[in-house]
Amino acid sequence: MSDPVKVMKQEVGKAAAQRVESGMIVGLGTGSTTAYAIEFIGDRLKKGEISNIVGVPTSFQAEVLAKQYGIPLTTLDAIDHIDVAIDGADEVDPQKNLIKGGGAAHTREKVVDYLAKTFIVVVDEGKLVDKLGSTFKVPVEVIPMAISPVMRALEALGGQPELRMGIKKAGPVVTDQGNLVVDVKFNDIPNPVELEQKINNIPGVLENGVFVNCVNTVLVGEIKDGQPSVR
Ligand code: 5RP
Repeated sequence: MSDPVKVMKQEVGKAAAQRVESGMIVGLGTGSTTAYAIEFIGDRLKKGEISNIVGVPTSFQAEVLAKQYGIPLTTLDAIDHIDVAIDGADEVDPQKNLIKGGGAAHTREKVVDYLAKTFIVVVDEGKLVDKLGSTFKVPVEVIPMAISPVMRALEALGGQPELRMGIKKAGPVVTDQGNLVVDVKFNDIPNPVELEQKINNIPGVLENGVFVNCVNTVLVGEIKDGQPSVR
């Protein structure tokens, strides 16, 4: 029997992939939901439903998937805009602000997603929150030599920082850029715009996972009476 959560993620990915049109430059996000969008974009290319598209990957993972599904890739040096970006999120608030970075890819994701004329977020309903920070910590990418002062500065901002460890805690998670990730619990984020700026002002921080005022559309997958659907 098929797993309804998997089917729901596939449906959300498919709905996002349907919004890609021929000739578009497409930002390809990271994560398990976006992976289905990448797969379905590849399917549509193969079937000839769309043509002449190029992808800009937000991570090594997205790059590998795009190659696997036959999506031609480009870099930001070769283009002057992105038409649409499709990406997942770890939290979405009612103002469509996000916390991202569960996959440690938020730095490149922010570059690509913020550049896009249209940014489509693909999530399941469990990611919808009244206030950012209620279920997820804020991921912060930090250059390794600055880890101690950055942790102290994050505490001074009212957060509880924790170095992200990898599988079996054998060592820290290392990003595609060769940096470390600190996950910061904030009891309250009254002003996401201000928090995003304050964290990024700490010397040694490369980027944080608070995304503000950048999302156009949120596609939400849900399961009702055992049936997956997208709204
Ligand atoms: C990676 C991300 C992902 O988009 C986010 O973690 C959501 O992933 P998933 O769709 O697997 O829940 O921000 O850095």
